[in-house]
Amino acid sequence: MTNNMFFIANWKMFGDIRSVNSTKKVIKLSKNKKYKRAQIIYCPPYTLLEKFLKITKKSKIKIGAQNCHYSQRPGPFTGSISANLIKSIGANYVIIGHSENRISEDNNHTINLKIKSALKEKLKVIFCIGETLNEKRRNKTNLVLKNQITRGLKNIKNNNIIFAYEPVWSIGTGVIPTNNSLKKQILNIKKIINKFCKIKNPKIIYGGSVNTKNITELKKISLINGFLIGGASQNTKNFIDIIKKTIN
Ligand code: 13P
Repeated sequence: MTNNMFFIANWKMFGDIRSVNSTKKVIKLSKNKKYKRAQIIYCPPYTLLEKFLKITKKSKIKIGAQNCHYSQRPGPFTGSISANLIKSIGANYVIIGHSENRISEDNNHTINLKIKSALKEKLKVIFCIGETLNEKRRNKTNLVLKNQITRGLKNIKNNNIIFAYEPVWSIGTGVIPTNNSLKKQILNIKKIINKFCKIKNPKIIYGGSVNTKNITELKKISLINGFLIGGASQNTKNFIDIIKKTIN
């Protein structure tokens, strides 16, 4: 394995001002040549973005937001944050289409608008896709992924997109796909992107219950360009362990 690997920490609505300091050990690791293939990205809650940007400034760690509003202009959207606001404080990435947001505000159309808005601001997009347990049981996974990708990326030609395959049934459950089925899904996603999108060499990462134990199996799938990590990324020791076990 010689390619760079993404380790994206999605802190969701966890962490507070004190937890920013807990990242110091990760910053140290990011400066170690041995782990230069690791592209670490922290996506903390909005209120911690500036603190994260400050503490990671002298490292190659990048910072992203967990969502953005679809509007490309400022507007009367109480409680919302635009891609422009995210970019203006110096963040480089934004997660869009996370299943936890697809439950409430997001659908393939709003996600398409959000991605356009983010790309216009030159943010890199971590685009989440994945089927629910119900869809999986009804053998709808391929169709769901195809719709999410083609509708989410309608009229978009841009390489600044990382595809995060997160089967919803795997998020926070401790259950992960077998390596064979994960490999199959990644190949399927590549095929869909190839057929319907003009994106060259797409980066595809996996998310859903990645932890210090299952990483030794997951890392065997060479098609995967990294991991989007929820729970395990909030514990610095575990996050470092995952990075070390992947890149050794
Ligand atoms: P967990 O790693 O806690 O399952 O969360 C995955 C996720 O939703 C990352 O975006």
